[in-house]
Amino acid sequence: MSDNNLSTRLYPTRIDIPAEARKQIAGILNQTLAATSDLKSQAKQAHWNVKGTDFYQLHELFDEIAGELEEYIDMFAERITALGGYACGTVRMAAANSFVPEYPTDILMGMEHVTALAERFAPYAKQLREAIDKTTELGDADTADLYTEVSRTIDKRLWFLEAHLQAAVTQNGNGNAGNIKTEEQAVVRQAAVR
Ligand SMILES: [Fe+2]
Repeated sequence: MSDNNLSTRLYPTRIDIPAEARKQIAGILNQTLAATSDLKSQAKQAHWNVKGTDFYQLHELFDEIAGELEEYIDMFAERITALGGYACGTVRMAAANSFVPEYPTDILMGMEHVTALAERFAPYAKQLREAIDKTTELGDADTADLYTEVSRTIDKRLWFLEAHLQAAVTQNGNGNAGNIKTEEQAVVRQAAVR
């Protein structure tokens, strides 16, 4: 993180987790905070800009997803401060520190936005799962539990997103799920020429 000293800054606290562990956990949580804030803004971007025949249901779905992420932003930030850490919570901090790829600006149709979000939910879900293990190893079962709770919902949301793409592939008579990426690209290409 570019503001590494801030993301691991500690204030005095009576909590019984060693300072060195809390420092590392705060760093991990700040990475997640930045990514969650970034991803939430991307879901909103999709909510506002999606077009096509599936507009309304996707407009609603993307807003629901953004609303969940908004709650997680608060939960991650407050876990950082509960550990005596400093929450790097501004939009500029999120932009500087997020590992989520930039949201594309040249997409329009529903399935293009679904694909873009699925491609960003996947690395986000991976980071959450890795954080469950890391925070467990650092002796913080509560932070690991928070990550587990969020991870479960994010996996579910990835399923919701991918179900749109899988359905489109099935309707096109291609039952081969071997190469999701290629199939999604086919759907996106079809959406683009519509
Ligand atoms: Fe809205």
